[in-house]
Parts: sequence; C-alpha cells; structure tokens
Amino acid sequence: MIQILFATQTGNSEFYAEEVGRHLEKAIVSSIEDFDFLTLPEQKRVIFIVSTTGDGDMTTDILKFWQFLLIKDLPKESLIKLEFTVFGLGDSSYPKFNYAARKLRSRLLQLSAKEFVPSAFGDEQHPCGIDTEFVIWFENLVKKCETQTSIQQYIKIEQTDTYGQQKGVQQSDFEFTNKKRLSAEQHDKETYQYNFKCNKLYECGDILCVKPRNQDKLVSQFLAILNLDGNKWVKLEEQKQNQKSKKIPKIISIQQLFSEFLDITSPPNRYFIKLMSQYAERDIHKQKLTEMCAQTPEGLEEYYSYVYREKRNVYEVLYDFQPCFIPLEFLIDSLKLIRERQYSISSAYDGEQISLTVALVSYTTGKNRPIKGFCSNYLDNLVHGQQIEGKIIKGTIAFPKQLEIPIIMVGPGTGVAPFIGFIEQRVKQGAKNKEKTILFFGSCYENKEFYYKEFLQESAITLFTAFSRDQQKKIYVQHRILENRDLINKIVRENAQNVMIIVTGTSKKMPTQVEQVFKECLGEQMLQELKRRKQYLVECW
Ligand SMILES: Cc1cc2nc3c(=O)[nH]c(=O)nc-3n(C[C@H](O)[C@H](O)[C@H](O)COP(=O)(O)OP(=O)(O)OC[C@H]3O[C@@H](n4cnc5c(N)ncnc54)[C@H](O)[C@@H]3O)c2cc1C
Ligand SMILES: Cc1cc2nc3c(=O)[nH]c(=O)nc-3n(C[C@H](O)[C@H](O)[C@H](O)COP(=O)(O)O)c2cc1C
Repeated sequence: MIQILFATQTGNSEFYAEEVGRHLEKAIVSSIEDFDFLTLPEQKRVIFIVSTTGDGDMTTDILKFWQFLLIKDLPKESLIKLEFTVFGLGDSSYPKFNYAARKLRSRLLQLSAKEFVPSAFGDEQHPCGIDTEFVIWFENLVKKCETQTSIQQYIKIEQTDTYGQQKGVQQSDFEFTNKKRLSAEQHDKETYQYNFKCNKLYECGDILCVKPRNQDKLVSQFLAILNLDGNKWVKLEEQKQNQKSKKIPKIISIQQLFSEFLDITSPPNRYFIKLMSQYAERDIHKQKLTEMCAQTPEGLEEYYSYVYREKRNVYEVLYDFQPCFIPLEFLIDSLKLIRERQYSISSAYDGEQISLTVALVSYTTGKNRPIKGFCSNYLDNLVHGQQIEGKIIKGTIAFPKQLEIPIIMVGPGTGVAPFIGFIEQRVKQGAKNKEKTILFFGSCYENKEFYYKEFLQESAITLFTAFSRDQQKKIYVQHRILENRDLINKIVRENAQNVMIIVTGTSKKMPTQVEQVFKECLGEQMLQELKRRKQYLVECW
C-alpha cells in the first residue's frame, strides 16, 4: 500500500495528490492532518505533496506531523525502512521558494528514509505553472510504481428521491448589510468595506474565511449545456477514500452541488480536459482536447495558453467543445471544491457587526478577456440581507490588549484592514497617547486610495503615509520607516520587552523589504530577538 499525503493551504496539493492516486494501484490519498504519524517508521512508501505558505512556512495541516519529525532525540535511523518522494508546490516570486517541501525532504533524509524517486519542486511562476515539474516527476514516479490502466473513480452516484437536509448558507452567522467604497469613485481599482450583521465573538487580528458560491447565471448555463436537471437529487457513495466525500453532503440536489460545492468559476484542471477528450462527440474536438492533455511540453503549453492563462472557466471550455456530456460522477471527481478565501477582520468586536476591507480582483488576460476574482466578485454582488457562508479563525497576528503597550503597524493597501479594527478598539478604550500607536500606510495615489483617510487622521495615532506614484520618485512604506528610524529606535529600545511590530499586506516583496529596513533601524540582533519573542509578526498574502 502506498500512502499519498498532502499538505495544503488553498487546495492545490490536494488536487495533485488525487491525480497521483488516480493512477497508482493500491494507493491511499489523505490529508497529512489525518495521518497517524506514529505509523511512519512502519510505512513502506509515502508520497508527500506539500505546498509552502506564508514566508516559507509549512501549512497548518502539517504542523503536528512536522513537530513530531523535529523531536530532537529521534534516533538517526528512525525511518530506515521508509521510501519516500516529495513533490513541492511553491512560487519562486517568494523569497523562500518551496521551503516547506525542501525542509521536509532534508529531515526525512536525516532520519535515514530513502528517496525512491527524486523529489521535485513545482513553480507557479513557470509559464506552464506547477505542471511543468509535476509532469516530469510523475513520469519518474510511475516507472517505480504499479499503475492503474482504467480511470479510478473516487465517488459513485445514484439518483435518489430521498431529500437530504439542505445544508449551507441558511445556517449562516453572517448577514450582509451594506458596503462602502474606499477607493475613489473614478478610480479603476475598486476597494470596499463590507459590513455584515454578526454576533459571533472575535478579536482584532482574527480572520473571516468566506466561501463564495458560483453565480446563479453560470450554474444555469452549466447545467443546461450538460443537460442536467438542477431539481434532481443524487446520493454520493465513496468508492475510494477522498476528501470530497467528507465535505459534500451524502444526499444533495444537483443545483446545490454546483452552486455551493464544486467550483465552475475557475479554470478546469487537466484531468477535466482528459475527461472531455473522452466524452466530446466531434472528432476534431477529441483531437484538440487529447493534444491539450498530453503529458508533453507541447500539451502543457496548449492547456496553459488556452485554459489557464486565459482563465477560461469550466462552462466556457465546455461551451467551446460542445456537445460533451461528461457523466455526473466524473464531474464530481474532476472539479475542485470551492475553496474559502481568508479576509482580515477590519472592525473591533461590538456584538453586532463585522467588517472586511476587500480589493476587487479585476484584470484582463493576454487576449484581453476581462476577469474578476471569484470571491471578491461574489462579495461585490451581495445584496442587502443575503447570508454568506463563513467562519472565524485565528490569524498569525495578535494585538496587545493594554493601551500602554506600544505598537508599530505597517499595512499598505488592504493590509491596513486588521489595523482599522485595532485602532477602533484603542479609540473605544480611550487611547490618547499618539506615540503608542504608530501606523505606516501606503498606496499608489493619495486622492484615489487613501482608505479610511478621515478615521485615520482623526484617531489618536501617529500616521505616516507613502503614496508611491504621486511623485516621480517612488516612495514606499519602507522609505518612511527609514526616515523615522530615530523614533522607531527610541520606542523599541524603551519598550523592548513588550513593543509589537506588525506587518500585513498584499505584496510578495514588501515583507522582505520592510524587514530589511527594520534591520537597518534596529540592528540584526534586536530584530531577531523581537521575532523570537513573537513581537515582530507578519501576515501577508
Ligand atoms: C491571511 C489572509 C488575509 C487576507 N486578507 C485580505 C484582506 O483583508 N483584504 C483583501 O482584499 N484580501 C485579503 N486576502 C486575500 C484574499 O484571501 C483573496 O485571495 C483575494 O480576495 C482574491 O480572491 P478572489 O477569489 O477574488 O480571486 P481568485 O479568483 O482567487 O483570483 C486570484 C488569482 O487571480 C490571478 N490574478 C490576480 N490578478 C491578476 C492579474 N493582474 N493578472 C493575472 N492574474 C491575476 C492570480 O493568479 C491570483 O492568485 C487575504 C489572504 C490571506 C491569506
Ligand atoms: C499567502 C501565500 C504565501 C505563500 N508563500 C510562499 C512561500 O513563501 N514560498 C513559496 O515557494 N510559495 C509560496 N506561496 C505559493 C504557494 O505555495 C502556491 O501558490 C501553491 O500552489 C499553493 O498550494 P496549496 O493550494 O496546496 O496551498 C504562497 C502562496 C500564498 C497564497
């Protein structure tokens, strides 16, 4: 038996793990979170599919497993019986490319496990994405394992007249009330504050995970093109252990399945294209689709240029190759589950309301097709009174409760979100001393993207702003930090035991550059001390 274990933050590793599981004989795919790590020394073969998150960090689901592997007195030969390979998912635009997978590989080797196939590290930045490395690694893998010839199904379905419990947004704790535009009306970038009725307890620094739904119009078009009746109900039966079966209700209407669970808004994966190549009715379509899913550099390029880079969604691809009636069980097998998006809560708890600060993702592809982000567009289309599915979780940042603890916050763009809630809380607590609450905010233009301008200018805080494109020479928050090094040094030295520095935001390079300037201001040793004591925290996306 081969164990395929995945560690994921946003679901990509899970897809690759299932793809491997589909082809291998006697393979079990599971989340690393569900794996009993005490059995690791007895396992014969394990395939790890692991993504990196944060700043070169392990994803949350692998942390317990990783802590176990790091136990200092584990004997050097603990894993001598184990054969393994790691496939890493990462993005080389982050400074710590594929760190999680690389660290895991090194530790397994240290504990005497043997690599039965060379590990490999996929890169989102490659023109053909993660698949470029995956295809090569997978080819090596199948040479060393027994493979399946027929396509393995994870889920079987049965039509049913039994109606299940309508699960979903009816039980929501979050009811949309209104939104307020934060970027200037005439500006092409749209950023909003979204407000929801909510009496759930939360703290500053917490995150609201929002699960979007496919738009009704898209669902109708999708069902129509596949001749599916949304009013019919189906019963799902697990054929092979998988995550989807755990997350989708056993009895569900087809309408609900494609509105709330399976993602038809994002581009389909290559397995979906492979299924299409089998069910497309016209020969010319079959041929084109077969080329697109071939495990060759040319096949990858075809898929990436037509589907992925153009962000064609599942319906659009089906439309171009109709008629193509993929059976329902294969649709369930191949489509990704809709995944939640995380948003920093940008309000202080009051028992009634919760707010978010969200930038609408909107851009055009190489062929000029306008695209909007799935979740930010879903939020943009909410109507008053609409319930959303969400949950509150702890983020990686935590704020001081006492007013006397000084804090230096760096939050350009929507990175300011958690600080708005925190400042609101300090205002409620009666904060007067501006020197205790310092904020560095930045964006492109003062007159278009100075979010929460009045609130920030009127609150008892010390505010530094950097508007990068308002002058010829670009000015960013890191420049403002350096300009104010004396103030920063004074505050940190006088309060070394409790001062907090928190950095949040969207840019991939910003956290590294900000850290660099803090190093220049405070010295390497002080910065390392603050990090070690969790007084220097970063949350970027
Ligand atoms: C801890 C945490 C906190 C967060 N807090 C906030 C917050 O407070 N506010 C906020 O707005 N967001 C926040 N985010 C980001 C948020 O979770 C979503 O990722 C974001 O809203 C985009 O989701 P979406 O579904 O709209 O876009 P998706 O449909 O997921 O699309 C995003 C993808 O589109 C592609 N893309 C985007 N722009 C372009 C472009 N110009 N050209 C080509 N491709 C492009 C990229 O591949 C990108 O990954 C946070 C994320 C994390 C992890
Ligand atoms: C918030 C965030 C932080 C990331 N940090 C890193 C990183 O430090 N190093 C890296 O190589 N990739 C990083 N990535 C890229 C992811 O590893 C990559 O997108 C991967 O496909 C995600 O896989 P998953 O969906 O299984 O979590 C990051 C992605 C996000 C969204």
